[in-house]
Amino acid sequence: MRATELTDPSPCTRTLDAPDTADIWVSRMKARVKIFTYGCQMNDLDSLKIQTEFSRRGFTATGYTREADVIVINTCSVRQKAYEKAMSNLGRLSALKRARPSLVIAVTGCVAQQDREGLLRRMPHVDLVVGTHQLHLLPDLVQDALKGARGRVVAEFSTCIPFMDTIPDTTLSAEPHRAYVTVMQGCDNFCSYCIVPHVRGPEISRRAESVIGEIRAHASQGVREVFLLGQNVNSYRGGMSFPELLRAIHSIDGIERIRFTTSHPKDANDDLVACFRDLPKLCSHIHLPFQSGSDRVLVAMNRHYTREWYLELIERFREARPDIAFSADVMVGFPGETEQDFMETMDVIERVRFDVLYSFKYSVRPMTAAASLADDVPAREKSRRLVVLQARQREITLENNMRRVGSTYDVLVDGASTRVEGQVKGRTTHNAIVNFTGERSLVGRTVRVTVTRAQQNSLTGVLSDAA
Ligand code: 5AD
Ligand code: SF4
Repeated sequence: MRATELTDPSPCTRTLDAPDTADIWVSRMKARVKIFTYGCQMNDLDSLKIQTEFSRRGFTATGYTREADVIVINTCSVRQKAYEKAMSNLGRLSALKRARPSLVIAVTGCVAQQDREGLLRRMPHVDLVVGTHQLHLLPDLVQDALKGARGRVVAEFSTCIPFMDTIPDTTLSAEPHRAYVTVMQGCDNFCSYCIVPHVRGPEISRRAESVIGEIRAHASQGVREVFLLGQNVNSYRGGMSFPELLRAIHSIDGIERIRFTTSHPKDANDDLVACFRDLPKLCSHIHLPFQSGSDRVLVAMNRHYTREWYLELIERFREARPDIAFSADVMVGFPGETEQDFMETMDVIERVRFDVLYSFKYSVRPMTAAASLADDVPAREKSRRLVVLQARQREITLENNMRRVGSTYDVLVDGASTRVEGQVKGRTTHNAIVNFTGERSLVGRTVRVTVTRAQQNSLTGVLSDAA
């Protein structure tokens, strides 16, 4: 098996639009591509961009693994469970590869970056390993692989990431009125439990002109909502600050809603808070991971804020935008977490009353600082704490949802409801899902909906009138 490092001479000036003769040769064969995606919204967006690049080169997408000529597994390794999921799917593909050796299997994303050559050794049926900074090379590498160049690893970190500037074809997505837009990638924070800085690399911001140009292009295609993505958007430095970028995007005609994720609480400054006071298109929701409510654990996690500081930050956002909804990430069972530490986490949940809380059991990740600490909270205790936390959060979420009954909201309609035939679903500014009876022609439009019932994970409403 050959492992090749391939460097692009001028990655930042590459264009990917013009197919060369080899592309035309493959497109005549109508190679079919199946993409599996694991993990966060960044990976969802990377997969959409990958699909966009392939379709520009004449490949066709397929939903069927068995008929694919090319399979891309876009992976996540933030928690051990996500890593294992990607590995077991990859393992299952070995039988398919044995039956059809011409199949090209490419692994991209965080697991590719983490394991590199090791992945080829453990999974010899994999043909290509493409890391998080090199996704722009994937179509060429796949073309080469279809012609026989297998066993390549391309996973060098670079000082710029050309794939950030690739504009996804939103018409290929299920919600063409919403565009996810990368503003930065990577992380310099090195929270002690987190593998992201090791697999996504240092923070690199995309130039503001490129971000704004992409959003203008989306707006002219009918996109109504932009969702800005980055591991820590608050440390954006693409020629302006993140709050300045929000203000610039706010002035783009056609864009009705702006969302973003993720924010590190330590970097959420007054300028960001002021955006929620000043910018009506900025949605009334912020995702602010707090990870733990215990100051002792926050120090061990290298988070650089205290519980009091976090709670005050929440109040500052509430002052700027009284109806703002909060979501967050939290984990239980970090090394050394005591019952008292856990109670302090529960206390933050009581005080903030998040609408949505993503909660995890701590798992050891390679390369991280916490990997050298004893993983000393027993698995059963981690599970118990998670069950307690999730049970209480379910109650709070339902109570928050019930408080919305009787109110009327602008809802951007996303598509057919998955709950009831004849209904459509959309989102309020708070990111709450609302199902209501309505025509499919409403998809992509903003309508007024009065909430009539609250469920655990969504609301039910009736259409008032088209806004
Ligand atoms: N164990 C458990 N959860 C983790 N997260 C990140 N690293 C770990 C880990 N080692 C969680 C954090 C982060 C979210 C994306 O995943 O809560 O915000
Ligand atoms: Fe990971 Fe912390 Fe960076 Fe978030 S801020 S990606 S948790 S290191």
